Amino acid sequence: MSDGINRRQSLQMGAVGAAGIIMGGVGLSQTGLPWSTRPVGNNADPDLPWEQPAVLQSQNGVLRTELVVSRTEVELAGVRAHMLTYNGSVPGPTWRIRPGDRLEVRLVNNLDQPTNLHTHGLAVSPEGNGDNPFLSIGPGESFEYRIELPESHPTGVFWYHPHHHGTVADQVFGGLYGTILVEDDEEIPVSRDRVLVISDTTLAQGGGVAPGSHGQVMMGREGELLLVNGQSRPQLSAQPGERERWRVVNACTSRYLRLAAPGQELLLLGMDSGHEKSPRRVDDVLLTPGNRADLLVNMLPGTGELVTLGYNRGSGMMGMMGNADLSGPATLATVVVKGDDIPIDGHIMGERIPDPDLRDREPDSRREITMTMGMGGGRGMGNAMVFGFDDRPFDHERIDQSVTTGTVEEWTIRNPTTMDHPFHLHVWPMQITEEGGVRVEEPTWRDVVNVPAGGSTTVLIDFASHPGRSVYHCHILDHEDTGMMAVVASGQ
Ligand code: CU
Ligand code: CU
Ligand code: CU
Repeated sequence: MSDGINRRQSLQMGAVGAAGIIMGGVGLSQTGLPWSTRPVGNNADPDLPWEQPAVLQSQNGVLRTELVVSRTEVELAGVRAHMLTYNGSVPGPTWRIRPGDRLEVRLVNNLDQPTNLHTHGLAVSPEGNGDNPFLSIGPGESFEYRIELPESHPTGVFWYHPHHHGTVADQVFGGLYGTILVEDDEEIPVSRDRVLVISDTTLAQGGGVAPGSHGQVMMGREGELLLVNGQSRPQLSAQPGERERWRVVNACTSRYLRLAAPGQELLLLGMDSGHEKSPRRVDDVLLTPGNRADLLVNMLPGTGELVTLGYNRGSGMMGMMGNADLSGPATLATVVVKGDDIPIDGHIMGERIPDPDLRDREPDSRREITMTMGMGGGRGMGNAMVFGFDDRPFDHERIDQSVTTGTVEEWTIRNPTTMDHPFHLHVWPMQITEEGGVRVEEPTWRDVVNVPAGGSTTVLIDFASHPGRSVYHCHILDHEDTGMMAVVASGQ
């Protein structure tokens, strides 16, 4: 497995000479445009070949790996950058597993600060050495995670990243993320299977990652440098008639993506742990921070771009926190489809078991949760903005919602603030029934749901399995770190 990583690193090193040193736009102070969405690598070699993260596959039901977290010098968009890395690369390795598998991950923390590991979207135990967000793995320490997927676990695209409260945004912005694919025995025949980990960061002078300013943290920081698999605007090449599978992860700290590839035919297979009834033709897909998309792409001849069309996620308190170019349009990659026609044979999809619909039963209870943001007037709080749920900032010792294992609940999440917040619940996937006042007809399963500014989203949650204590939070990770997180406990 380390061979794959070394190969990738040497490929990156090899690309440097051609790309040269492009410093234009690096550094907040130099550009004076802290909210610019213009990627640093705009001028990078447009023929930068596409790269994939190293892949690890489970064997005999187990994926056993060591995940070393360290500060590493890597080549990013043609410049030398000091990033936080999993096993020396950005992104970390892709894990391919199956329902019923077990993850045995030895996390080794070589940072000078605590970290931990969250397997985002997996419906697994939050207890002990499972997907436990309350753990803290100190500098120089290591920890053995053991995460068991049930046989009935949904297939789909998931991901891993740190979840140590207070430093999640810094660590993800710094480069810590990787993909988890939960796959069927039988997959759709494709010409090429790609992972697209989309992230953003800002490099300071000297190649370190720029810290978020106070204002940026309030809005949720967005990086100047937009990356696909750690590359700025790489070239995706294919031949006409080929069919590709794109597994897309929005690993950005705060940026919303409205993904599109004009000129290509996109078919949505699913998002998060949810599956479409049959592949659905889409022009674009909205991915809030933390969301994933599973796409089939019929490659049509021509040269184009993979882009984010831009999304207005609102503004801060009375404009005080700025808003302008947040989550604006940007180019992610170039797409070049040329050469001989290679039509692919094979059916797109066999029989699919439809996703469950929790509306078949009456919820055992209903609750309302309100996202809150206000000026702190409390003792010792000064004038800092206080983020929370129901006017309370996160406290890991307080249980905010007690639910009974085995029940189904309906949660309405209200957002009276002036910006959208992506709501993420660990362990227990959510079926969206109403979003921004609009009823959702098809069974739609997500683990991050958008709650629009001034609106609400209603979900159904099945607490059938995985008793224990976990969290829900805003997946604008700066908001999570600043207190927009709370504890849910499922038990008898
Ligand atoms: Cu996450
Ligand atoms: Cu938020
Ligand atoms: Cu989380």
